[in-house]
Amino acid sequence: MAATIVIGAQWGDEGKGKIIDYLAEKSDYIVRFHGGNNAGHTIINSRGKFALHLVPAGIFNEKAITLITNGVVVDLEVLLSEIKELEKKGLRVKERLFISPRAHLIMPYHKLLDNLYEEAKGNAKTGTTGRGIGPAYADKVSYNGIRLGDLINFKNFSQKLKVQLLVKNKIIKALGGETLNQSEIEKQFFKYRKWVTPLVTETSQIINLAIDKNKSVLFEGAQGVFLDNDWGTYPFVTASSMMSGGVTQYAGVAPQKINDVLGIAKAYTTRVGEGPFPTELKNEIGNKLREEGLEFGATTGRPRRCGWLDLELLRFAGAANGFCAFALTKLDVLDSLQEIKVATHYEYNGEKISYQNLETNQLNKIKPIYKTLKGWKTSTKGITKFNKLPRLAQYYIKFIENELKVPIKYVSTGSERNETIKL
Ligand code: GDP
Ligand code: IMO
Ligand code: MG
Repeated sequence: MAATIVIGAQWGDEGKGKIIDYLAEKSDYIVRFHGGNNAGHTIINSRGKFALHLVPAGIFNEKAITLITNGVVVDLEVLLSEIKELEKKGLRVKERLFISPRAHLIMPYHKLLDNLYEEAKGNAKTGTTGRGIGPAYADKVSYNGIRLGDLINFKNFSQKLKVQLLVKNKIIKALGGETLNQSEIEKQFFKYRKWVTPLVTETSQIINLAIDKNKSVLFEGAQGVFLDNDWGTYPFVTASSMMSGGVTQYAGVAPQKINDVLGIAKAYTTRVGEGPFPTELKNEIGNKLREEGLEFGATTGRPRRCGWLDLELLRFAGAANGFCAFALTKLDVLDSLQEIKVATHYEYNGEKISYQNLETNQLNKIKPIYKTLKGWKTSTKGITKFNKLPRLAQYYIKFIENELKVPIKYVSTGSERNETIKL
């Protein structure tokens, strides 16, 4: 049995939802440990098509327990509607989903401020999802947050809300927004409190006990390494830690209890929102990848920026997170390309330079050095055996594996659960 962390190895949207849904069939526990409903994880299986933002993508294994830990910021309105939608489709969620009382709440002023800050920044905006993620985490680390546990003890909630509104309404007003009303928020959250209370329980002890009992635990990463607050392309990042090490803090699990880390990477690269993207293709090939890969945000619907696979990024992600293996997704999207480029490393002023030694603004100036590979020009969609792949597609996978010196353990050839090769 294993405690496995699944981490997005690029800028998010690597197909984590699909891979988690596949792996969750054999998991006893699936754990969301960071981020919030900025995540959009697409799952297509026998129950239909879903885009989950807060409920762990492993929910479809009805024998598994799913957890949302202290490291997640929770928008109760979104969580409630997601649970309702799943129950409408006949899935049992209650008694299978638990949330830590330490999880911070995304409050209405967080969403308002997220958008007001973006407007104030103008051209320098981050391109956030507008879900209040940054402001909620900022309140958490500056001791201004309201936790789910406070909501259960409603008096705490009201007192904290009063202080927060005193400050937040001043900022909202200064930025030209409409101020918020305490009693309206209280009314809304009192309703949430009623349905969420049975779901609230400390999650770290459940996880630790499960690992001690040799159960299979899957930590479901959201976003991706290059959106990490420290190691990503700051300030074009998200608010929480994206790294495998974050699980220790965000789920209350000691590092030596983790024995497997899986990085998920697309066979090319995408990014939503602002920030540098060395291998971006602002041309017909980029458009083709967007169209064939259906590269539009699962949360905001925004078109994703597309580019070639970047091994410099994956090498850094692998080392910093201790990837034991990779899952390579969306191989089929490359099916019709004549040739495929892969950036093997970066050069800056004619010298080889690694990602971690570059400032964010320098990333726009480096030269990615490409290796050009021949396209296989035939469909790989839905293939489930490595030896059934066209030779040139096999070569593409082996080339990446050799460059990264980390095994590729899964290859995804379509968006549905069973369109997966296990190597
Ligand atoms: P996540 O945020 O990492 O879970 O990824 P998203 O769900 O936001 O985006 C991945 C998109 O690619 C979704 O539309 C998936 O259905 C789709 N997808 C995942 N794996 C594959 C694959 O192997 N092939 C194709 N064509 N689509 C895939
Ligand atoms: P999943 O889990 C792709 C990006 C936003 C923006 C930046 C900050 O589906 O891979 P935020 O709202 O978090 O303050 O926005 O981070 N971003 C994502 N991009 N996939 C995601 O999640 C993302 N979550 C946040 O586009 O650039
Ligand atoms: Mg996504």
